[in-house]
Amino acid sequence: MALYAIGDLHLHFESELKAPMQLYDKVWVNHEQMFQENCARLLKPGDVLVLVGDHSWGTKLEHCQKDLQYICSLDPGPAEGESGGPAASAAGLPRIVLLRGNHDMFWDAKKTAQLNARYAGRLFFLQNNYYPYGDYALVGTKGYCYEGLDTPEHAEKLVERETERLRVSFEAAAADGYRKFIMFLHYPPTSALLWQRNSVFTKMAEKYGAEQVVYAHCHGESRFHDSIRGWKRGIHYSLVSGDCLRWHPQQILPN
Ligand SMILES: [Fe+2]
Ligand SMILES: [Fe+2]
Repeated sequence: MALYAIGDLHLHFESELKAPMQLYDKVWVNHEQMFQENCARLLKPGDVLVLVGDHSWGTKLEHCQKDLQYICSLDPGPAEGESGGPAASAAGLPRIVLLRGNHDMFWDAKKTAQLNARYAGRLFFLQNNYYPYGDYALVGTKGYCYEGLDTPEHAEKLVERETERLRVSFEAAAADGYRKFIMFLHYPPTSALLWQRNSVFTKMAEKYGAEQVVYAHCHGESRFHDSIRGWKRGIHYSLVSGDCLRWHPQQILPN
């Protein structure tokens, strides 16, 4: 069992919407097929894949069915000897974990339990909960950082809300006895525009002793160094946006 992550598939099998980057940057040409082939080659039965937000351009769940079917198709299947058929992992959980991104309008954070019920055995929606992975708890939330699209004051409010959601995720895992954490954010943990070197998110990672922080959202070469990458204060930070990884999922934990 290995853990992989990647973000920002921006699927649009049922939506006319696309971002300019998808029209003009050749890394996005046929990216769905490339990614599917890379997953089939890389992922082994029993592996877990975390998709770090911005899954679909569909604005309603009804408009995302083909996108979510595609995501379900990435499931590498159960580990050898594992019972329960293709939908069950060792913990009886799906092997595909989704985090909310800023474009995931289909996913109302308050209705995450309904999504988990609807996709039970196929997809796990990570919000105000955690995903058990061996000795680790995978925790996370969308996060937020100031990008000049709103006022710093408004951004601060959204950061506060997301900080609370992240705290709930950490505390749920801690209450169940977990002490090892991998923390996922969709947004980068710090704002390049505010010249931040720390944030409430990096401080929370430090407070709970997260081993890694994994984030996405940054598209195009000019944005790939917007936030922390590599080691900082004993925590490893990774940017896993799909175009940055050229659609190869990044291994987060080994077998
Ligand atoms: Fe994105
Ligand atoms: Fe995003």
